Amino acid sequence: MLRPLGVTELPVSPPHYKREGRALVNVLFVCLGNICRSPTAEGVFRELVRREGLDAVIKTDSAGTSDWHIGEPPDRRAQEAALRRSVDLSDLRGRQTRAQDFDDFDYVLAMDRRNHAALSLLASKGRGDRLHMFLAFAPHLGLTEVPDPYYGAGDGFEKVLDMIEAASRGLLDHIRETDLAR
Ligand code: 4NP
Repeated sequence: MLRPLGVTELPVSPPHYKREGRALVNVLFVCLGNICRSPTAEGVFRELVRREGLDAVIKTDSAGTSDWHIGEPPDRRAQEAALRRSVDLSDLRGRQTRAQDFDDFDYVLAMDRRNHAALSLLASKGRGDRLHMFLAFAPHLGLTEVPDPYYGAGDGFEKVLDMIEAASRGLLDHIRETDLAR
């Protein structure tokens, strides 16, 4: 026979922002080398999340589709450009993307079409909807790709930062309106 639940027997819900030990929202930024664009995006977005007091709710990471810079810190030029905007990338280290990323992350954000194509091959069935072009979150820029600054002119890193700041704000607005509004 069913007994009425006593107060002590009420099921205890985990905090609303936790889901099976994960943060509510997990975001992965992806480029080719994981030393210029994606660590910059991770650093800028992470700082924005921290300033908004959402760092327990939204977790970030970055990765490269290549294995060229595994374990390396971000490119010195990327670190210097980010620091000029008070964003510290020094703790970040390169790693390569893996199929598991589509289970671990709710948002997998490609910097360019080549990264997007490589990622779509990694995404298992039913997980492809987690993959987006990062600049889709800044439609007002009228751009699709964050250009690779690695071999380019000196101001490439500043332009990349401008795009990344805009898309980071758009992404956070989107997450607030969708994932955090529930
Ligand atoms: P990222 O830039 O994809 O923005 O990290 C690059 C970094 C390194 C190389 C290419 C792009 N590379 O040829 O080593």
